[in-house]
Amino acid sequence: MKVLVVGSGGREHAIAWKLLQSPQVQEVVCVPGNGGTAKLERCRNLGLGINDFEGIGRFALVNNIGLIVVGPEVPLAAGITDDLRRQGLTVFGPTQAGAQVESSKAWAKALMQEAKIPTAASAVFTEAAGAIAYVQQQGAPIVIKADGLAAGKGVTVAATEAEAIAAIEAAFGGQFGAAGSQVVIEECLVGQEASILAVTDGLTIRPLLPAQDHKRIGDGDTGANTGGMGAYAPAPVVTPALMERIQQEVLEPAIALLRQRQIDYRGVLYAGLMITPDGDPKVIEFNARFGDPETQVVLPLLETPLDAVLLACAQQRLADLPPLAWKPGAAACVVVAAEGYPEDYKKGLPLSGLANAESHGAIVFHAGTKLKQDQLVTDGGRVLGVTATGADFEQAIAQAYTAVQAIQFEGMYYRQDIGHRVLKRNAA
Ligand code: AMP
Ligand code: GLY
Repeated sequence: MKVLVVGSGGREHAIAWKLLQSPQVQEVVCVPGNGGTAKLERCRNLGLGINDFEGIGRFALVNNIGLIVVGPEVPLAAGITDDLRRQGLTVFGPTQAGAQVESSKAWAKALMQEAKIPTAASAVFTEAAGAIAYVQQQGAPIVIKADGLAAGKGVTVAATEAEAIAAIEAAFGGQFGAAGSQVVIEECLVGQEASILAVTDGLTIRPLLPAQDHKRIGDGDTGANTGGMGAYAPAPVVTPALMERIQQEVLEPAIALLRQRQIDYRGVLYAGLMITPDGDPKVIEFNARFGDPETQVVLPLLETPLDAVLLACAQQRLADLPPLAWKPGAAACVVVAAEGYPEDYKKGLPLSGLANAESHGAIVFHAGTKLKQDQLVTDGGRVLGVTATGADFEQAIAQAYTAVQAIQFEGMYYRQDIGHRVLKRNAA
């Protein structure tokens, strides 16, 4: 089978890499891919935009593509799946209606409430005055969220009322474009976050190994929110008993209600959870796609061929697939970013030392790179996801950091404390 992967991040590199390990997968085409996917054997990049549905569809039909896997949320929210399915293609990724779990936070909240899924108390506003009055009544800390897709920048966890009001004014003032014309205000939850990426065909839903991301730019979980600075799996905070509750209280009710609404959801339902100090799971957000960098730590541990899992979802026969098999041990990913990220940063900086890093046993997933006349250069804020597996977290994390130290580019930045929760936990 030939598979086409839409996207250009570390997530898509990891998906392509994993697909190519399957004996059933002959070739992977990435649209548009990155410097890492360009160098994978039996993989090539195709220079089309991720929102060029017509171009992607035409290519897939002419080239006998058996499966299309959509990585990012933007084309999903724009209806890529609906469009390609109309052309008779097999797609892993929810329809536009399903992608609303991510593309509208108000819609997702209403879904959670109707399905009785545990989540933070919230209210939705379409103008600033009402939102500000609500904040003044509730007090801080409080969370302000732009309704629509805002590339991970639409959420403010406000420690003070003044900060909350500033966030409301920014959203209604147009900072996030149309995404901010509606605002969700939420109770501030405390606890440990966990990412549950679950695969579904709309009828059956199965979680992958639980992962934990590191959202903040700075060590000790300080500073600005980012797309994610590192991850590990399996996250011990999600015990088997807790995973069973998540299945019963979050995943099953979500998929049942989507189905009841006649939404054809075949793809990943990603539940971003807060595990409260009492050990209860509460949903912070749903995403309609694989997490990034969580995918870079979950897929290296997957034993079942990835194409079999994704195809079973796309063809709506997930119930017939044997239980997912996992490798023992742990995986860790350290994201290497450009200086300045998540604010402004330079692109086009030459990278070196990657082969050396991989000789230490790590896998270097490319997040923002490209090949420029055979020279690998940076091409994004998050540049690489350096991933290692090991018998335990100590080994995986140490190996990832050894590999990171072999890499060079001007101004490279990474957190020094990826996995601090699991390392402390083991030491305690
Ligand atoms: P999101 O952009 O929805 O992924 O949210 C970004 C981050 O904001 C999450 O990963 C959390 O760390 C934080 N966050 C969002 N909602 C809440 C909440 N209700 N309580 C506490 N933190 C939150
Ligand atoms: N790592 C967070 C996300 O993929 O949304």
